[in-house]
Amino acid sequence: MRVGVIGVGTIGEIFAERLSKEGHELFAYDVRDERLKEITNRYGLRKAASNAALIESSEVIVVAVKPQVFPSVVKEMKEATPENRLFISVLAGVETRRYEEEMPGVKVVRIMPNIPIQIGKGVIAISRGKNVTEKEEEDAAKLLSPLGVIERVPEEKIDAVTALSGSGPGFVFAIVEALADAGVQIGLSYPQSLRMVARMMAGSAEMIEKTGKHPAELRNKVCSPAGTTIEGMLVLEEMGIRGILMEAVSAAYKRAKELM
Ligand SMILES: NC(=O)c1ccc[n+]([C@@H]2O[C@H](COP(=O)([O-])OP(=O)(O)OC[C@H]3O[C@@H](n4cnc5c(N)ncnc54)[C@H](OP(=O)(O)O)[C@@H]3O)[C@@H](O)[C@H]2O)c1
Repeated sequence: MRVGVIGVGTIGEIFAERLSKEGHELFAYDVRDERLKEITNRYGLRKAASNAALIESSEVIVVAVKPQVFPSVVKEMKEATPENRLFISVLAGVETRRYEEEMPGVKVVRIMPNIPIQIGKGVIAISRGKNVTEKEEEDAAKLLSPLGVIERVPEEKIDAVTALSGSGPGFVFAIVEALADAGVQIGLSYPQSLRMVARMMAGSAEMIEKTGKHPAELRNKVCSPAGTTIEGMLVLEEMGIRGILMEAVSAAYKRAKELM
């Protein structure tokens, strides 16, 4: 498939790299000429002369610019003929309605990825605009599936996804860092402690997925009577770990709504 990427910054680069590895023909455009040269050379992509030229050459277009530049980018996109093109918008806070108002009839799906897409282990929420058929949404999901797990959501839930799986890796990295420090405090070396924590997080998460068991049931298995884990659990409960995490997601959600 011919795929164009508008804006090859942090997120655009990941899409360009991973989709080209899947054997798609990639076109890229970015206003930063140096960056565009670097990325197209690094991954063997085709360099488009403008956003309009990129749209003319591509069947699917991933829009990966910052939300603030959407008004100027959409002006450039309108110079092309976007019929029979499918747009995949990564922009936080920009609704499909905004594309549809500017480009009547345009087919656009909105997605919210998270950073582990870089290693093909992301979560990508997807919701389709009013001109996109179920089949076209499925095609988009199929195209994106090498980057992670696809979750279909109605567009009004995208802010919730932004706060949970979008911001979530930031929260998880902070938790991992703290646990790795805890390992050092009780005598482990930092590299070994970090390795153990990372694997422990991944293993625990995989167990939830593979067993299908409620996390509370799995937690109870680790907490033996008068054992070590229940002692630690008491501290977590006293310090309000659940409240802290729920407040963090809730604050991120509030912020996602403000950015609209
Ligand atoms: N970073 C994340 O974890 C994350 C997660 C989910 C979604 N997103 C979304 O992904 C989008 C991209 O984020 P990012 O962090 O990758 O941004 P970024 O690193 O700033 O990349 C955007 C690139 O697009 C360029 N650009 C600006 N105007 C353009 C135009 N008219 N045509 C073509 N390229 C243009 C920018 O150049 P200049 O710098 O010169 O403007 C920059 O090189 C955002 O909308 C964000 O909401 C990000």
